[in-house]
Order: sequence, then structure tokens, then C-alpha cells
Amino acid sequence: MVHGDTNHQNPGYVGYVAPIRELNIPALTLNDGPQGFRTSSNYAGTTTCFPSGMTVGATWNRTAAYLWGKAMGEEFVSKGSNVQLGPGVNVARIPKNGRNFEYISGEDPYLGSQMVVPAVKGIQDTGVIANVKHFINNNQETQRQGVNEVMDIRTHMELYAPVFEAAVVDGGVASLMCSYNRLTLQRAEYNQTQWACENVQSMTNELRHMWKFQGWVMSDWGATHGTQLDAMAGLDQEMPGGRFYSDALQKAVQNGDVPMATLDAMAVHILTPMFQFGMMDDPSKFTNGSLDTNATSDAHNAVVREIASNAMVLVKNNGVLPLDTKTKFIVVGDAGQISPKFGGKGSGSVVPAYVVTGLEGLSKRSGSDAQYFKTSDSDAAVNAAKNVDAVVYFVGVLSGEGNDRTTLSLSGPDLSLISELAKVNKNVIVVTGNPGAILLPFSDDVAAILVTFLPGQELGNSVADVIYGDVNPSAKLPVTFPNKDNEQGFTDEQWPGVDGKATYSEGMFVGYRWYDKNNVTPKYEFGFGLSYTTFDVKSCASNRTMEYSCEVTNTGKVAGAEVLQLYLGFPDDGFEPLKVLKGFEKVFLQPGETQTVKYELTKRDVSIFDDSMEDWRQPSGEFSVHIGTSSRKINWSNKFTHVGLTKSLTSQKTQE
Ligand code: GLC
Repeated sequence: MVHGDTNHQNPGYVGYVAPIRELNIPALTLNDGPQGFRTSSNYAGTTTCFPSGMTVGATWNRTAAYLWGKAMGEEFVSKGSNVQLGPGVNVARIPKNGRNFEYISGEDPYLGSQMVVPAVKGIQDTGVIANVKHFINNNQETQRQGVNEVMDIRTHMELYAPVFEAAVVDGGVASLMCSYNRLTLQRAEYNQTQWACENVQSMTNELRHMWKFQGWVMSDWGATHGTQLDAMAGLDQEMPGGRFYSDALQKAVQNGDVPMATLDAMAVHILTPMFQFGMMDDPSKFTNGSLDTNATSDAHNAVVREIASNAMVLVKNNGVLPLDTKTKFIVVGDAGQISPKFGGKGSGSVVPAYVVTGLEGLSKRSGSDAQYFKTSDSDAAVNAAKNVDAVVYFVGVLSGEGNDRTTLSLSGPDLSLISELAKVNKNVIVVTGNPGAILLPFSDDVAAILVTFLPGQELGNSVADVIYGDVNPSAKLPVTFPNKDNEQGFTDEQWPGVDGKATYSEGMFVGYRWYDKNNVTPKYEFGFGLSYTTFDVKSCASNRTMEYSCEVTNTGKVAGAEVLQLYLGFPDDGFEPLKVLKGFEKVFLQPGETQTVKYELTKRDVSIFDDSMEDWRQPSGEFSVHIGTSSRKINWSNKFTHVGLTKSLTSQKTQE
């Protein structure tokens, strides 16, 4: 039970723990990944490719996250898999991280915390155990199997740990996956470098003591590095096999290096969720499932389309969108037909039964077969563009596990052709498929830009829904879109690291936190996204300290949704960013409708992690509150003075 089986018993899941029949303990059948059930080639097409984690993050819609989790979990049940190796949640420290597309947090821990909870609940409400990964600070793919991620503990606790804490404390996630990297958390008294799967600070102090985690921690595949240290730090299960946790662990227990109580705790951590999820009472829920089941359905296809069309961020629109069906257009770009950008690479990939390409989706919705030009058909495309009303250009890039991206730029031929087309047609609409932040150097030259991230198999239908206005775009960027590569100026020491050590000398200042501090205007800011309607934010007020409300009105002619965001500025202690996200609500409004949005900041919201006491504490001083429709479009600001405490939150709770 405390290690996977890589023998013949595994019918074909990514991870497998054989049943203990004499004890009526069923098998654990673990499978990737964070955007759907990953099949081996012989079952390709029998599961759904859902939008990626970051794509769901772009919806800023907690309900969407729940429905995403629930639909994926249903397919895991059909496949007889009782553990989904997802969602992925790591905060996007490095814009070029090859796995950012899998991570629901984008660049902000509050967004991640708010979105991971419903996602976990959606998965686990189907009876499948969710597995939040990669714990912790696996924030790059370069040298991921050994890089030492070095940071001060306050940055770790305030920026990288909260999403895992939320998954455990609020989401009730039943398992976590510890990551490949090493970890050095600089603390007041000492620094200690340990592999993530044997790191006492994260695996014991945070996970077990602070967050009271009752579930189990499995290693990433091959991320276990020892027996005694790993077991004592809190690694409950080695995956995929038993290099350290089979005979070696048995010997360690027999010779007293690992107490029997520790082994018992490991088993209890695994069995507790299995009992909680009914696997012990009724294993048939999963044994009735099978790898050769076709788990797809029209219902799930509709979920993909619904989420994806609500995850597309309209970052530019000069009024050309939405199109009407009378508009004559051509479709250009490899990503529009021959190479659609619908899902990421690596263990998070899913091979769907079909992908609706951009050309197919737009042709179907418009009622006419649009002419198509590959990127290499540049001359013909430019000629055709002179005789149509609009050009829809699909461009994109993919990334995946094991490698970081070398650039945020899109491909040269695509960029050149977009530029040429914009010279002959004033209505070039660019649709991007992207695993994270990308550079958009053509933003001034084109009429509209729709950012789809990695929307899953219904790509073309979702794009058509937005392009024709059947869905009014309401998504917001979960990551900053920069003006240039490495705009935040990461040195080699920071990323990818020197001599195997990546030093987080930037502290808290990544993403919009960096842009605010350095007063740099990004191409498009965190939290930004346009709509086909307009909204008015008014009557913002603070009714009581830490309580705020605003009225949002749809002042346009079509129904739409706005995401009203609350950012909090801490007393200036030289460490905290100018403002950090601490609240958001997505309001759906009919034309002319007004809704009141309310926020109530908690004690934890106004706390910092005090590294001298290694706990959360409310600082005293002047705080600022900023409410708006993006991290830069602030409608209302206010200040309040808070009398903090010298005691930690924990000690306060104990007293209460
Ligand atoms: C991979 C990934 C992890 C995945 C596991 C099983 O190396 O890091 O996310 O779940 O192995 O495929």
C-alpha cells in the first residue's frame, strides 16, 4: 500500500497499488491528469480533452471550476480510476515555465486558492480522490529532477503555499503529490536543503501541523529519494514502484530506523480517504469501470465548450467583434486547421476523439465554408484578404512537461503574415492558443485579439460562440502579458538557476506584483479582459472596517459578466507588494441590471507570515483597498488603519 506496483498486475493505469484481498482493501488505480483522463495509445479517443487548468483559471468562475472537476471525475469513474492526478496548482513564478498551462493559479495564490477548492470538490464529489500537485515550489521544468529552489520562508508561505493550504483546509483534498525538486526555505534560525518529498518544513510542519492534513502524500514518479528521511518527513507512498518503500522500508522498520507508528500513520493516511470515499464499502464503483470504456459523452462535450468559451479573454476589440454571419472572412494560420492548439504536452495531455478546429467551428457557425490558408500560403492569403471583410488568424504555441519555453514569442512566419495581412485588411482578428503568457507585438496593428489559452477539444465551437457573440466574453487574464521576453529581468541565478540552485531573490515580486513595484505597464495586465457590453462600478463604500461593497451595473445592450476584484495593500514594510488580490466576484448582469458586490476581509487576509514566530500575524498600520475590474483598472480606493497584534493568529484562535 505504501508503494506502487510496477508489476504485471497493473491493467494499464499510470499508477497502481495492488489490492490486499485478505483485508478487503481494493486497488488504487491512479491516472493523469489535470485536463482529463490520459489514455495510452490503444485507448486514445475514449476520454475528453477538457480545458487546461490555467484556462479554467481564466474564467475566474468558481462554478466553472466545480463543473470542470465533476465532469473529469465522472470519466475517471468510467475508466475505473479512483485517483485523479490533478489538479495542478503551482503559482506561475516564471512566465516560460513549460507546465504553467496545467496550473489553475496563474500568477496569483488567491486566484488559485479560490479556484482549486471547487475543482477539488467537483472531482471528489464523484467519489474519485483528487491529487493536488506538485507540492511544493516545483516552479520550473528546467532541471526539475534536481534543482534546488531557494527562497525565504515568508515568500514561500505567502506566495507558493496558500493554494496547497486552501486545497487541504477548504477543499478537503485527499491526496497531494510531492515534487521532484529540492527545497531550501531560509528561516530565521537555519536553512536546510531537502528534497521536496522529505522536506520536514513543508511535509510535516505545514501540511500536518498547520493545515491538519488527514490524507496521504504520494511522490511524483521517481521523486522519492530515500527511506527513513522520506518516511519520517511524511511521505506516505512511493510512486510508481517500491525502490525505497518496499524491502528497504521493511528493513528500516525492523531495525528501528523507522518506528512502527510511522508506518501505521502512513497506512492510516491512505486508508482514511479510502474509507471516507466509500471505496472499502463498495469497491464495485470502480471495479465496474474499465480502461476500454468509452467515457466520452455529449454532456461532457458541452461542458468543455461552455467552460472554454467562458475562459477566452478578449484583450482587444476595436468594435469588429462580434461578427455577424453576413461578414465575409477567411481563416489563416496553421493553428486554425492543421495544428490546433487545444491541449498541452506531457503527462497532462489527452488525445481526444476529435478536435473542432477554428476553421470548422467558424464555418459551421457562419453557415459557409470559409476559405483557409496555412501559414505558408502567405502570398495567397494576403491576396485573398484584400477581397473579404475580415481575416480570422489562428496562431499559437504549445509547451509541456520537462522543458521550459525558450521564448514567449509566437512563431516568426505567423508574426510576419499577421503584419502583412493587417496592411491590406483593417479587420484582422487574431485568436491565440497559448500555454501561458505570450508576446503580442501586433496588438496595435490588428482589430481584435482573443486569447483562448488551451481550451480543449471544442476549440472551434467555443471560438465561434465568442466571435459571433453567442457568448459574451467574460474571462480575465490569470497571468500578466508582458511587452517583451524576460521583462521581469530574471537573472540566471533566479531562473533557471546556477549550479543547480534557483534563488528567489525577487521575493514576492512576480507577475503583477513586480509590474506594480517597478511601475512598468505590461502589454495586458493581470485580471484584464474585455466584454461586448460595458459596466459601471459605483457606490463603493466601506460599511465597517474590512467590509466593502460596490454596485456593478451593465450599462450596455447585451447581457454579460464582470469580475470585480479587490486588491489589498499592506503597511509598507519593504517586503509586501503594493497590492495583492484578496477578493473577486463574477457578476452576471442583464442590460441595465445592477448588483451589489460585497467583500469581507478576514483576519488572515490582513496578516503577514512573520518569519520570527513562523506564524501568521496581523501587522499594525495603514492598509489600502483597491477595487476594480483588473489589477490596473481601479475604480475605487480607500485606506484603513488596523491595530494589529503581536500574537500570532494561531495563538489568538487558541485563546478564542
Ligand atoms: C510526471 C509528472 C506528474 C505525473 C506523473 C505520472 O513526471 O510530473 O505530474 O502525474 O509523472 O505521470
